[in-house]
Amino acid sequence: MPRTLICKRSEIPDNGLKECVTQSGLKVLVANAGNEYFACQATCPHQDVSLCEGLFDGSVLTCHQHLWQWDIRTGAAIGLAESPLECYKIEIDSDFVYITAGGDALDVGELFLGIAGNTLESIKALAQRREMQAGGTLYGIGDPADDFFVLESGRIEFVIGRDDRTSPAGFMLRKGEVFGWAALLDSQPQRIAKATCLEPSVLLCINGKQALKVLESDPAAGYVVMRRLSSLIARYLAPSGAK
Ligand code: FES
Repeated sequence: MPRTLICKRSEIPDNGLKECVTQSGLKVLVANAGNEYFACQATCPHQDVSLCEGLFDGSVLTCHQHLWQWDIRTGAAIGLAESPLECYKIEIDSDFVYITAGGDALDVGELFLGIAGNTLESIKALAQRREMQAGGTLYGIGDPADDFFVLESGRIEFVIGRDDRTSPAGFMLRKGEVFGWAALLDSQPQRIAKATCLEPSVLLCINGKQALKVLESDPAAGYVVMRRLSSLIARYLAPSGAK
C-alpha cells in the first residue's frame, strides 16, 4: 500500500492536533498523544465541522460542536457519538509523517462487510473507480438510478427539492459508505436527491442490476446485503434525508 506524506513531525504540537491536506485533497487530522502519533478523518462525521477545532486531552477527541467523542487510538465512538472515525495507519520516517489508507472501500463498508469472498470479488469486478473534482455533480433529481456508489475518499453532499425550494439532506464522508442505493431497488428507477462532491472525491461506481445478479447467485450473501440495505434506507430516510 503506497504511503502518503502528510506533514513534518515537528509541525504537530505536543499533545495537540494538526489538520493536514494530502496532495490528492484528502483532509487528515494528526494527533500527538505523548509522542505517539495517530491519524483520522479531519471532519466530524456528524456535520461539516473541523475536528482540529475540537478538544483533545491526549487520549479522547471531542468535537466542540455537539460533544461527540472518540478514542484517538482506534477511532471508536464514545458516549454520545453515533459513528466511529475513519483512521489511517501512520508511519514516521525521520521528521516526516506518512499515512497509509486502510483496506478497499468495499471491504470496510457496512453493506458488504464480511460477505463470502467469491461474491465480494464479483462485486469488486463490477466497480469502476471514478475521481471527481470539488463541485462535481454525481447525479441530479430525476436522473436514472443505474449505479450505486461506494465512497473511497472525499465528501459528498445531498440536497432534495428543486430550484430555490431545496433543502440539505446531509452529507457523507466515511470510507465505505454507500449511496445512490436506488439503483438496488426495482421500484425506484430515478434519483430523489442531488449528490455533489464538496471536495475532490474518489468513488467506486457499481451497476445496480449487475450487482443484484451477483447477489441472486449467492442467496445467503444477498439476504445479508438486502437486510443491511433496508436498515440503511430506514436510517437515512428518517427524518429528512434521501440518498
Ligand atoms: S458537528 Fe461534531 S458532534 Fe455535531
